[in-house]
Amino acid sequence: MSRSASSDAPHAIVDLTALAANVAALRARIAPGTRLMAAVKADAYGHGVARVAPALSAFVDAFGVATAEEALELRALGIAQDVLVFGPVRARIAELVAADVALTVAGPDDLDAIARAAAPGRARVHLKVDTGMGRLGTPVGAPSDASGSGLRTVLELAAAVDRGRASLLEGVWSHLASADDPDAAVADSSADAQIAAFREVLQALDASSLRPPMAHLANSAGVIARPDAQFDLVRPGIAVYGQPPSPHVAGLAPELRPALTLDAPVTFVKRLPAGAPIGYGGTWIAQRATVLATVRLGYADGYPRSLSSRGLASVGDHHARVAGRVCMDQVMLDVGPDADVALGDRAVFVGGAGPSAVAVAEAAGSFVYELLTGLGARVARRYVG
Ligand SMILES: Cc1ncc(COP(=O)(O)O)c(C=O)c1O
Repeated sequence: MSRSASSDAPHAIVDLTALAANVAALRARIAPGTRLMAAVKADAYGHGVARVAPALSAFVDAFGVATAEEALELRALGIAQDVLVFGPVRARIAELVAADVALTVAGPDDLDAIARAAAPGRARVHLKVDTGMGRLGTPVGAPSDASGSGLRTVLELAAAVDRGRASLLEGVWSHLASADDPDAAVADSSADAQIAAFREVLQALDASSLRPPMAHLANSAGVIARPDAQFDLVRPGIAVYGQPPSPHVAGLAPELRPALTLDAPVTFVKRLPAGAPIGYGGTWIAQRATVLATVRLGYADGYPRSLSSRGLASVGDHHARVAGRVCMDQVMLDVGPDADVALGDRAVFVGGAGPSAVAVAEAAGSFVYELLTGLGARVARRYVG
């Protein structure tokens, strides 16, 4: 018997009210004049940028994305706020400048690419410096800048951007590598060293009359754990979606509200005798008679295969456990001997009555960012609030 007329697809149900509440909670942690840029890269961390960005636009000052395509998508959605591409771009630069998207310059090659692009006007540039992440930009501060020449290189690049025919120096930024560590708040932590190195860059730019209006360093962990990492703008991502960047930071920001719930429909139910094997390889064998529910969710939808015989879910009032290997499109749940489960019931795998996204990610040997951004295209995004 089917109890529900809901769709056959797995659903990621996104609570837009929670997103707004999380932005308000983050704003309460930053100084009144500090601007807030929400990171909405990777399809708004899997939440669906087409609905999330417009919903957030009343509450944030700017958006951060990883690629040219993501920036242009925001403009196509009618987003009028500032948009910054975090990664250097080589293609579509003229389009980005025409769309008034700010670009990252991490080295001279990035600036040359902007100069060659024949863009219609000057590109707004945010200069990326490496204070310890080691990913992009000129290394500054010990120990990465062994020769001590980093600061001079940054000043030369800043001057080149500032004087560039095709560019305008609007920002300088860096990225925290470990602000989510439990020791991030203690003296001599790597976050400490990064903040000090960033301050040195700002002082040097200031002394050369090159300090741009927007200096920024803090991600979610920085906003929550390091108030001294807030400069003119902060760039939270995961916290906007109500998830903590690490278990340590979770304890510091209990007010965050997870915005996403993942559920999927039961497509087959049977009574299973003790001893029956389930799934590929027959790796799970019923230890007692039980009710088994097959659900339309698999690893191709982003539900990790590493949760085979380990993942937890809730179905109505029942606690269920994944039985056997997670398949590409389906997963089997042991719902318990007395469970009352019917076709069309929805099993909750993440959030809501199910386990938290952080718990699911941890059980899968992953972390919450990967779980959320891995949710597949077959998972229908639904919005409430
Ligand atoms: C440059 C940059 N800024 C900000 C963020 C947001 O980080 P988080 O989601 O940890 O807040 C990211 C995400 O990785 C990023 O790459």
